[in-house]
Amino acid sequence: MGILKLFRGKAAPQAPAIDRPVPRHIAVIMDGNGRWAKKRGMPRSYGHAVGAETFRTIATYCKDIGVQYFTVYAFSTENWKRPKEEVDALMDLFRKYLKEAAETMFQRGVAVRVLGDLTPLPADIRAQIAEVDEIADSLGPDAATASLCINYGGRDEIKNAVRALAREVQAGTVSPEDITEDSIAAHLYTAHMPDPDLIIRPSGEIRTSNFLLWQSAYSEYYFTEVLWPDFSTADMDRAIDDFNRRARRFGGV
Ligand code: FPP
Repeated sequence: MGILKLFRGKAAPQAPAIDRPVPRHIAVIMDGNGRWAKKRGMPRSYGHAVGAETFRTIATYCKDIGVQYFTVYAFSTENWKRPKEEVDALMDLFRKYLKEAAETMFQRGVAVRVLGDLTPLPADIRAQIAEVDEIADSLGPDAATASLCINYGGRDEIKNAVRALAREVQAGTVSPEDITEDSIAAHLYTAHMPDPDLIIRPSGEIRTSNFLLWQSAYSEYYFTEVLWPDFSTADMDRAIDDFNRRARRFGGV
């Protein structure tokens, strides 16, 4: 089946009647694609392709239930170390799917954004990301946002913010005492959005893997054994229900 056909094939779920609070910002480490494909005797790239479809379904569902920001880890600064064949397959997936996803999600009122250091990406993908940005801009600043982190690393992001601030100090526009937590946050890729309330990691792994290091200081984590390609709207409901049972104290009592 052609990849675009695969993505067009599934209808997005209808908005359910919601009578519970939802987090403002949910982030996901989309893990388990490789194992999901292996269990079916398929190449890892197939798991990523089905994982990309899950992204579209879950991002649209989040918008339907009132989640304002949905952010996923699609390709880390460390993922370049994977076999060339797998890196190429992921780049092909971005190439074939990014703009298509942005257009179909636009029709449902979801603005797709890409976060990360985009400079090492192939030029045609960077050009597509610029088009995706234009589509998102046309939805206006209040649209629900689904962000894909590509060539993203939490430490790399903080390093880039420190470099930018150092340049401002060097230029004399900022003094070291002016550097605050807010000014650091304003130099991160997520400058325009609140920190994630809930971070979900499927596939049974229990670590953060360099995802949203600064932003996750007070995030609640939810871990599940479900592999990302199998992650359903019911799994999202379970994660949100679990989140709603927690008492967030942000360091207070
Ligand atoms: C981790 O699973 C997943 C990735 C490294 C890639 C995630 C990317 C996508 C789902 C593609 C998204 C693209 C678009 C355009 C929405 P893994 O390979 O580490 O799985 P494993 O732990 O089972 O090996």
